[in-house]
Amino acid sequence: MASIIAGVGSSHVPAIGAALDNGRTEEPYWKRVFSGFDKSKQWMAQTKPDVAIVVYNDHASAFSVEMIPTFALGCAAEFPPADEGWGPRPVPVLKGHPELAAHITQSVILDEFDLTIVNKMEVDHGLTVPMNLLFGTPKEWPCRVIPLAVNVVMYPPPTGHRCYMLGKAIRKAVESYPEDLKVVIFGTGGLSHQISGPRAGLINSKWDKSFLDNLTKDPKKLTRIPHIDYMREAGAEGIEMVMWLIMRGALDDKVDEVYRFYTVPASNTAVGHIILENRRKAAAKSKRAAAGRSKQAAARKAAHRIASKGRR
Ligand code: DHB
Ligand code: FE
Repeated sequence: MASIIAGVGSSHVPAIGAALDNGRTEEPYWKRVFSGFDKSKQWMAQTKPDVAIVVYNDHASAFSVEMIPTFALGCAAEFPPADEGWGPRPVPVLKGHPELAAHITQSVILDEFDLTIVNKMEVDHGLTVPMNLLFGTPKEWPCRVIPLAVNVVMYPPPTGHRCYMLGKAIRKAVESYPEDLKVVIFGTGGLSHQISGPRAGLINSKWDKSFLDNLTKDPKKLTRIPHIDYMREAGAEGIEMVMWLIMRGALDDKVDEVYRFYTVPASNTAVGHIILENRRKAAAKSKRAAAGRSKQAAARKAAHRIASKGRR
């Protein structure tokens, strides 16, 4: 059975991608941002997921104002990086998981969430930047990726509650997939930021921190926040934070927060990052450790028997 073992929340600021692509990661401004993801990269290298479901928003790269699906699931075999005005980012093409994606589509649509099926799509910084932050800059991405694009660029975006419930439907879908696959789900975007207008540059650290606290401890409270509160408190683009609720909905009610990072600013944005593990992952880990310990004990006993036989 496939299972979702953990959730990752991460901002997706495009300037982070530009800093990587232009070799500026050692500059103090950027080092402050990248160093916050060192532990996360280690965690990811140990966790070794087979598949990452990456919830992100397309910024008029694959879609345009002519066509804006609310929830669009990438079912293709690959997803090339989009040209966002400076040529496609120099990151590997992402390999999809068409079988699992088709299974999720069927399960979720039959559960009455009307997903758009996407069989061809280029992906922008909303997806590629969090991939870099968690996986570094490998020649090939170490796992398959299923993109889930959410409309947060044109009113009306989905509600936080709808996002949270979609997360639950995705979890149910993943858990009914017969192959043993380790799945990690990403929620990307935010935290507080406003890119244009008289309030450009707005950041609200108090709001962001309380969002992160509640994401771990009381996500249901977050599902009741109306759009207007995100806009007022976290800036016009702060609405991207609803995407984190899809990730959270796909996890257990009670999770372990294994890592958090927050820094202000990167470009116009408060960078937020969190790693939440399902308790079952922790339980499986301790079971493995216990099995390892009893194996060691048996080996010690056997060695002792052999040694005492030798003395006889
Ligand atoms: C910025 C942040 C974003 O999330 C985005 O999509 C575009 C720009 C910024 O901080 O500049
Ligand atoms: Fe964005």
